Amino acid sequence: MTTDSNDHHGRPGDPCAMVIFGASGDLTKRKLIPALYNLAKDNLLAKEFAVIGFARNEMSTEEFRAKLSGDIREFATTAVDEDLWRWFCERIYYVSGEFGDRTAFERLKERIEAVGRDHGTRGNCFYYLATAPAFFAPIVQQLGAAGLVNEENGWRRVIIEKPFGRDYDTALKLNREIREVLKEKQIYRIDHYLGKETVQNIMVFRFSNGIFEPIWNRRYIDHVQITVAETVGVETRGGYYETAGTLRDMVPNHIFQLISLTAMEPPISFDADVVRDEQAKILKAIPPMTPEEVLTRTVRGQYGEGVNGTQRMAAYRQESDVSPVSRTETYVAMKLFIDNWRWADVPFYVRTGKRMPKRATEISIQFKRAPFLLFRKTSVGELTPNRLVLHLQPDEGISLSFGAKIPGPTVRIGGVRMNFQYKDYFGSTPSTGYERLLYDCMLGDATLFQRSDMVETAWSVVAPIQDVWEALPPRKFPNYPAGSWGPEEADEMLARDNRRWSPAE
Ligand code: BG6
Repeated sequence: MTTDSNDHHGRPGDPCAMVIFGASGDLTKRKLIPALYNLAKDNLLAKEFAVIGFARNEMSTEEFRAKLSGDIREFATTAVDEDLWRWFCERIYYVSGEFGDRTAFERLKERIEAVGRDHGTRGNCFYYLATAPAFFAPIVQQLGAAGLVNEENGWRRVIIEKPFGRDYDTALKLNREIREVLKEKQIYRIDHYLGKETVQNIMVFRFSNGIFEPIWNRRYIDHVQITVAETVGVETRGGYYETAGTLRDMVPNHIFQLISLTAMEPPISFDADVVRDEQAKILKAIPPMTPEEVLTRTVRGQYGEGVNGTQRMAAYRQESDVSPVSRTETYVAMKLFIDNWRWADVPFYVRTGKRMPKRATEISIQFKRAPFLLFRKTSVGELTPNRLVLHLQPDEGISLSFGAKIPGPTVRIGGVRMNFQYKDYFGSTPSTGYERLLYDCMLGDATLFQRSDMVETAWSVVAPIQDVWEALPPRKFPNYPAGSWGPEEADEMLARDNRRWSPAE
């Protein structure tokens, strides 16, 4: 992770070409091009830079430029400066071809060489695989066969989007296939949660402040809750979602990133592998559940119809490209443990779902109660435990709840909250969340990308859940109305431990 002390901070990325596979898709117009544009605006893009879009659609470079010039007005996160966009646009190219067609990769090779000559990219090139996952391995194989990942004259890197596999075996297979062509240091497995400022801040918060680390352990922490709640349903992604479900879509990637950053030991440096070693240790310390534990420590849900004010919200099974008898989950809750000295016996409760009442991603650290001997007469309900909440989105900030005396002649305790909001201190810098990740790739910093062992371990933790859920179809789907906080079983899971979900504040 970069800090002010890292030497590359603030200088432009290396001269390079970026090839986007699947360039006619959503990610390119919504995130990648606006992110590159923001980097250019911040002088973090080398002047010797070019983008080459590669996709199956027939399109000329001119048409591609015209299309992106329209899209940027819609998706830029900051005002578009015409001169800067013109400069950027002159560096955009397009190659059309099938992902399995050798000759298309020959054309791509010629284009990369041409932009090298025209824009001085010095042979450096990174490939962004923004395609359906089925194409990841075939594209890497074609790149290898065409000699496009050979690093004799400049660096070559490959960014791979999620989902990286759909279970442990397929992740293993994909890793094996791409490593026949690429060295691990050339592979950048992306998880866009690590591009979020507030996610990066978890480490800064923990390790740059002396006061939290001494209490960041099982002696003082009762449990941790992680909530990733979305108000949206599956929107236009029914087809993909039917093959994925919330467990695959969110848990082994985004949620496990949040867990590992929250729970990891302080790394001895911010070097990529040192940080990732610590994260990997956490994932390895999560014991996979037995089938019995899957039954008591996981909950799955699917949203039914609901209302939002006067608006009716469709049930998942009514969404387009979704089976009317679908068994795909749109909500997951689970209780995990981390078997190491710091966290033994501290439950990590996790919940994530679509069509929740509120968009909120937060990590809530609940501390053990004080020995309330002095307040014997106060009812337990009033004695709220201390809670530190990292609000990751949308209202980025950190809050700390504690008890204070309610003014008056008797001793009564009221829960109060100290609240830090990012925007109050640092303003808000609109970004796509991809800037940092693209920039780091241009500089060869893989800290915020997933290593193969992390991906494989994450899948090995969710494997028993996938097995049990596949063997036992859900009994009553849908089991929560759109616009609610999920199925009752999720509340019951915590109630059995005498706990409850802290409100997503
Ligand atoms: C994606 C998932 O990886 O993350 C989506 O595929 C989900 O289903 C999204 O909506 C959530 O990301 P964010 O940045 O909106 O929290």
